[in-house]
Amino acid sequence: MSVRTFENFTPIIDEGVFVDPSAMVVGDVTIGEHSSIWPLVTIRGDVHSISIGKRTSVQDGCVVHVTHAGPYNPEGFECHIGDDVTIGHKAMVHGCTIGNRCLIGMGSVIMDGATIEDEVVLGAGSIVPPGRVVTSGFLWVGSPARKIRPLTQDEMDFFEYSAMNYVKLKDRHLADMD
Ligand SMILES: CC(C)(COP(=O)(O)OP(=O)(O)OC[C@H]1O[C@@H](n2cnc3c(N)ncnc32)[C@H](O)[C@@H]1OP(=O)(O)O)[C@@H](O)C(=O)NCCC(=O)NCCS
Repeated sequence: MSVRTFENFTPIIDEGVFVDPSAMVVGDVTIGEHSSIWPLVTIRGDVHSISIGKRTSVQDGCVVHVTHAGPYNPEGFECHIGDDVTIGHKAMVHGCTIGNRCLIGMGSVIMDGATIEDEVVLGAGSIVPPGRVVTSGFLWVGSPARKIRPLTQDEMDFFEYSAMNYVKLKDRHLADMD
């Protein structure tokens, strides 16, 4: 796996985490137990910190990055991703916060200072502008993302199903790499 120290920050990767050999994890990054980082993902914690919770999957081609503190952004923007989050292929997650039990649709873009609260489905290809708060319990879709409807019980249940599905899949990949 490609896990690299940058200026005294070495990624902290918990037990049972899968990082695909083609993924890149750099710098001030923590990844919680049983999460999975799939092919060609970049997680670059060089100018601020990135934390990823437990049982979260960051799927193929995603980019997770942050914004440095400087004249344009005094505090910068770190990135926090919660537990049991499914981040679909090729999403761009930048300097934002994502709560627990969310589905981030493929190809979505989430910008600096945005917050995705717990239990949100963000439709594929959605764009969440800087600083926007995407509230809990709803389907949000579009560019910019708009609240469409409350989630059904099935969709609420799917968060855990999807997270556990990816935990099992990463275990198969880990076993096959031994
Ligand atoms: C949004 C989503 C959850 C479907 O929700 P839904 O309530 O079943 O929506 P429907 O399929 O009934 O579509 C409702 C409307 O939204 C539109 N729509 C569906 N997904 C959309 C999206 N991602 N962006 C914009 N519009 C979308 C449909 O075309 C439809 O429009 P219409 O009413 O004009 O015909 C689904 O399309 C989606 O984006 N899922 C994310 C999947 C993903 O990326 N998973 C991660 C990989 S593991």
